[in-house]
Parts: sequence; structure tokens; C-alpha cells
Amino acid sequence: MAEHSKDDRDRRLAEIRQSLGARSIVLIGLMGAGKTAVGRRLANRLDLPFIDADTEIELAAGQSIKEIFAEHGEDYFREGERKVIARLLEGGPQVLATGGGAYMNPQTRDAIKAHGLSVWLKADLRVLMKRVQRRDHRPLLATGDPETVMRKLMAERNPVYAEADITVESREVPHDVIVGAVIDALAAKLGCMTAKSAPAARRKGGR
Ligand code: S3P
Repeated sequence: MAEHSKDDRDRRLAEIRQSLGARSIVLIGLMGAGKTAVGRRLANRLDLPFIDADTEIELAAGQSIKEIFAEHGEDYFREGERKVIARLLEGGPQVLATGGGAYMNPQTRDAIKAHGLSVWLKADLRVLMKRVQRRDHRPLLATGDPETVMRKLMAERNPVYAEADITVESREVPHDVIVGAVIDALAAKLGCMTAKSAPAARRKGGR
């Protein structure tokens, strides 16, 4: 693997930031894909603010997502999610992690296309299940057998997530490895210098 000096790496990060302009890097993908963990580290590397849409929804509602689902239902949550993400997208550049269902809303997809660069963190069932089993704050997974729910969501959502500008495989490796793959893919997508090959990333045409 080619070695890059710290200066080269810093220059590449600065170039990514510059090419982004006011756009946000928007992480999408299923529950357990690592959007928050990877997003936080990615923001740190790029010296950009990190925003978690689910946290912002909870702040706006004054309730946890679990409480919003229980008291008002999923449709109400989805409407709040759409509005909050539309507002957040006005605040770029930033790294924005979205909840797993956000990108399924066509208006949110259009807003992300207009104001951001989308990155799908794509993980297989085994990885997703391993990660979501650690916590129980996700109401959708409480509606039935979690693995059956996850399989159904993968079948419904993966074809839509595939519209993302960039796809990166989220594997069982340290988060920083995934962050590196996202940075390589962003550099390639944005045409930044010293972009090296990104074996873990599958990219679609340039902008
Ligand atoms: C959801 C994912 C959750 C949260 C809500 C619904 C979904 O976010 O927005 O529980 O529909 O996939 P994470 O993907 O961050 O777990």
C-alpha cells in the first residue's frame, strides 16, 4: 500500500472540505451500520461539526425516540424527522448522521441530493444484528423478532440506499478503517488529489 505523508493527508482533507462547499456529508444506512460512530470520527478528521439527526429530533420533541413512537406513532416521528433533517441540511458543511428510515422519505432524499453528499454504510445482516443487540432503544426492532424485522428492512431499503453518491462496506473492523475508506471514496468522488484506491468502497460517477 502506498505511504502518504501527514502533509499529503492533511492537504487531501483540506481539499475535501473545500470541494464540499456548504454541502453536508450525510451518512445513511440501517440501524447498526455505524453511522454515528463513523460520522463522529469522520467529522473529527475533516474538522467539521458532527450532527446526529436522531439526537436533534429528540431535542426538538423533548422526548426520546422510543417515547415519540410510543405516544404519537411512527408517522408522527417520520414527519418530525423530515422537518428536522430539512432544517439541519441548511447548516452545512457538516457531517450529518441520519436515522435508518430517513432516506426512505422521497422529500428527504431530494433535500439530501440538493444539499449534501450521501454515504451509504452498507453492512450485512450478521454485522447489523451483532451491533443492534447491544442496546434496546430502537422501537422498530421491538415490533417482532429483531432478525426478521431487520431482514425485511434490508429487502425494502437497500435498493433505495443504493441511490447514495457513495457506498462503503461497514465491516467488523475498527471504525477508523471505515472512516479511512469513506475519506478515500470522498476524495475520489470530489476529484481531490492524492486520492488512492479505495478497495472497501464502491463509487458511482463523478459530480
Ligand atoms: C430507525 C432508525 C433509528 C431511529 C428510529 C427509526 C429506522 O436510528 O431513527 O428508531 O427506521 O431504521 P438509527 O439508524 O440511528 O438506529
